[in-house]
Amino acid sequence: MTSPLTSGLAPYQTASEEDLAAGRRALMGGGVAGQAAFIVDHGSGAVVVDTEGREYIDCTSQAWSLGIGYAHPRIAAAVAEQVYRYTHIRTGFETVPKLLLAKRLAELAPGDLKRVAFTLSGSDAIEGAMKLAMRNRDGASTFLSLWEGYHGRTFGTLAVSWPHPDNIFGRWMGPVVRVPAPYVYRNPFGEGMTAEECVDACIHFTRQAILHAVDGPIAGLIMEPFQGNGGMIEFPPSYHRKIRELCDEFGLVLIWDEIQTGFARMGAMFAADLYGVVPDIMVIGKGLGGGFPISAILVSERLRGFKPGDHSFTHAHFPPSMVAALATIDVIEAEGLIERCRQMGTYFTTRLRAMQARHPLMGDVRGPGLMIGIELVRDRDTKEPARKEAAWVVREGMRRGVIFGESKYLGLGNIVKIKPPFVITEPQADRVLAVLDELLTELETRGLPS
Ligand SMILES: Cc1ncc(COP(=O)(O)O)c(C=O)c1O
Repeated sequence: MTSPLTSGLAPYQTASEEDLAAGRRALMGGGVAGQAAFIVDHGSGAVVVDTEGREYIDCTSQAWSLGIGYAHPRIAAAVAEQVYRYTHIRTGFETVPKLLLAKRLAELAPGDLKRVAFTLSGSDAIEGAMKLAMRNRDGASTFLSLWEGYHGRTFGTLAVSWPHPDNIFGRWMGPVVRVPAPYVYRNPFGEGMTAEECVDACIHFTRQAILHAVDGPIAGLIMEPFQGNGGMIEFPPSYHRKIRELCDEFGLVLIWDEIQTGFARMGAMFAADLYGVVPDIMVIGKGLGGGFPISAILVSERLRGFKPGDHSFTHAHFPPSMVAALATIDVIEAEGLIERCRQMGTYFTTRLRAMQARHPLMGDVRGPGLMIGIELVRDRDTKEPARKEAAWVVREGMRRGVIFGESKYLGLGNIVKIKPPFVITEPQADRVLAVLDELLTELETRGLPS
């Protein structure tokens, strides 16, 4: 296959300054994050290149989705072959890629999560999981979710996510009780507890909420096994076992949102493998598609499935995404990316923890694999969140050729994220660390620029 990049044929890849300006005027912002200060031209591995030829090491993997890197040739080949055969096929028809992918995911999935439903985005997959929980709990409609959890931006997923400070959509959101989770660095029950005491306090609180805080039957509990957007929060492993036991005791459907954690990001295929806990429903997305939109709901064989019309979308079984996902799984296995992610994760966190001694702004360094968060604080004792500083690091990092991530949105978070493609090299990792070191030194010596 000849790439348009090398053949010189590149339809829609160049435009006049006037056309670009008109496009910018017409494009409504998504209300999501700050605008990147460049136009993307192409990418390879962990690096993206802009139209001026400048290179950036991408520690966001484009919303944590390009685990296997930019423009992987095996994805390009699989998708090119697919689009010359057929593109869109609606969900009622069988295709070979769809059946192969369902089989492959059922084989990979932990425990008895052997049935698969496909969707396109994380949010619609989470809503599908919520509907399944309601079907299996005979219409119970209340959900429990965790403080700082994030599950998407549709009405249902907004409801189970951390409360947005400017949320005007509440009347369309369903009944949810949010319970505290063991964010050990900022223990919701105050200082002075061990990690295990924090876990037990959260479990106790959750039990009390189930018994006393909810009107009517509860469908299930929805959580990320490692909270990404809300603050890169890692829970002590015992929490996972205890939450599983609590859900079993009350017959609640346990939904794990592995949209960020799945497909090698934490140095295991799934967080469920890492923690040895199997939820009743697991939702995957992002890294699954190797850059193509696809998400899926993996469901326990013990649960009832959807009824016709429960959850159906025109493009939900998009064949190019199916082959991209199959190729992604092959790449993860063939290139040993689970092991690579573990190694590079240790490479980063060892050096970050050493840097912590020199940088009072670095309150905490968290995360296994390449799921790394650095919590910035103005004062190590009070742990006052350094939100403006985190936003500055992200903005200024981009100018110096490193794209860092930031927790939550629009300056709401104080955690700088390092979640690059697993194929990041050691020299690239060294460059990322050097830029972060430089930025923190500037902040600590000169303060925030006014
Ligand atoms: C853990 C988690 N769940 C759900 C979502 C929502 O996915 P999407 O943006 O594809 O709807 C995200 C997106 O960032 C996520 O991180």
